[in-house]
Amino acid sequence: MLILGQPAARTSAESNYEPDRMNEPGSRTLCRLDEIPDGGAIGVTVPSATGGFDLILLRRGERVFAYHNECPHAGRNLDYAPGSFLVREGRITCAVHGATFTVESGACVGGPCRNGLVAMPIEVRDGEVLVR
Ligand code: FES
Repeated sequence: MLILGQPAARTSAESNYEPDRMNEPGSRTLCRLDEIPDGGAIGVTVPSATGGFDLILLRRGERVFAYHNECPHAGRNLDYAPGSFLVREGRITCAVHGATFTVESGACVGGPCRNGLVAMPIEVRDGEVLVR
C-alpha cells in the first residue's frame, strides 16, 4: 500500500518518485499510472486533517478508477492483505465476505452488498494519478 508522505511504506515498484508532491492547488499526486498493474489494483492512504483515508486505485489500460477502501456490507477494507485486492474480469471482490463490484462503476453485482463502492474523483494526467 502506498502511504502518501511515508515513502518507506510503499510495496509496489520502488522508485525515486515523490508521492506527496503537490501539483495544482487542490490536486495531489497519488502515484504514477505505471505503478498500478494493468487490470489490477493498489491501495493508497491519503493523509487529511481528520486522520486520512484509504483508497483503492484500479487500472484498466490508461483509465484509473478510485474508490474508498470500505466495503458497504460491513465497513471493512476490501483487501486480503494491505494493498492486495481480488480483481478479476472487470470486478473486484471484497476479501471479507465476497461482495463483488464492477471496476468501472463500483456497483454491487454480487454477494452481501446492497450499495456500491464510494467513488473518489481523480484524473490521470501526464502519467500521474491525481486526486482532486
Ligand atoms: S465486509 Fe465486504 S463483503 Fe462483508
